[in-house]
Order: sequence, then structure tokens, then C-alpha cells
Amino acid sequence: MKIIVAVDNNWGIGKNNDLLTHIPGDLKYFKEKTAGKVVVMGRKTLESLPGKKPLPERTNIVLSSDKEYRAACTVCHSMDELAEILKDYDSDEVFIIGGAKVYKDMMEKCDTFFITKIFKTFDADRYFENLDQHSEFEIVWESEMQEYKGLEYKFTEYRRK
Ligand SMILES: NC(=O)c1ccc[n+]([C@@H]2O[C@H](COP(=O)([O-])OP(=O)(O)OC[C@H]3O[C@@H](n4cnc5c(N)ncnc54)[C@H](OP(=O)(O)O)[C@@H]3O)[C@@H](O)[C@H]2O)c1
Repeated sequence: MKIIVAVDNNWGIGKNNDLLTHIPGDLKYFKEKTAGKVVVMGRKTLESLPGKKPLPERTNIVLSSDKEYRAACTVCHSMDELAEILKDYDSDEVFIIGGAKVYKDMMEKCDTFFITKIFKTFDADRYFENLDQHSEFEIVWESEMQEYKGLEYKFTEYRRK
């Protein structure tokens, strides 16, 4: 399974249930990577999406502990239930797309991490684990520096060694 996430200088990922910034080039990259794949997210991330709707052209799975929770996609209520559902899919096709809680819970099961690094410090209230502080991960690829309205960022790929 793979994780895709955009982080700032402190590996911050969100504030007030929204992204720290919206970079069109990063959203395009996210769309290209996940198109036609399975995306797994937490209930709060689903509710942060435009119209609180699942992402088009992808198989969406949302986690919520609330048995009454309804969404226009598959809802599952525990990690065990998620594992059962994911048996039907090739794990290479599964992307964990957030947020902080779901990244943390799923991290051990993932071997590839698409990290967009945004070279700015934002005021954040949600964070991703800093992979540079763990020796089991290595950077296998990184893009040229990108820029949007003076904001520098790059795409990187980490693998579990
Ligand atoms: N920078 C990025 O790339 C990126 C990507 C995605 C999200 N984000 C940001 O991340 C923030 C949201 O993260 P978050 O940690 O607050 O929320 P989240 O992970 O999106 O959702 C948490 C919710 O998911 C459900 N859940 C999680 N694990 C579960 C489990 N094991 N079993 C059952 N339900 C489970 C629970 O829903 P119930 O409360 O309904 O039980 C929980 O409250 C937002 O600011 C968002 O913009 C950033």
C-alpha cells in the first residue's frame, strides 16, 4: 500500500480540517497518482473535500467508528473491517490519502510514500510522521524544485528499506 501526503517544513499537513495550502500542481499530481485506484481516508478528510463528496474516478473507502455514518462510498468501521475489504484489491493499487489519524494507523502497512514537500512553515494542527527521523525509510526519487506563486515545493518518493 502507498501513502500520499503534502507536508510543510515541520511535516504539518492540515489546520481546521483543511489543507495548509492549495497548490494546483500538487493537486494535479495527486489526481494523476490516484486516478483509477483505491483511496482510503478518514471521515474528517472526506468531509474536507469539495461538497464533502468522495473523489471521482477512484474507489473511495472511508473510515468512521459511527455505524450510522452514511457516505456516497464504502464506509468501514475498524481496521479489521478495512483489511477485509482491501483483500479484494491489489495492495499496489491502494492509496492512503489521510488524514493524520489514518496515516498514523496505516503507516506500518505501507511501503511507498509519495511526499510533497512544501518549503514553508504553516500554522498546523495535524502532522505526518517525519520520515527523515527514521532510518527504515529512504528517498528513492525526488523531482526538480517546483514553484507556485513564490511557494517552493518538490515531489519525493520514500520507500521502506
Ligand atoms: N496534507 C495532506 O496531504 C492531507 C491529506 C489528507 C488530509 N489532510 C488534513 O488532515 C486533517 C484531517 O486529519 P484528522 O486526523 O483530523 O482526521 P482523519 O484521519 O481524516 O479522520 C479521522 C476520523 O476517521 C475515522 N477513523 C480513523 N481511524 C479509524 C479507525 N481505525 N476505525 C474507525 N474509524 C476511524 C474516525 O471517524 P469518526 O469520528 O466518524 O469515528 C476519525 O475521527 C485535515 O486538516 C485535512 O485537511 C491533509
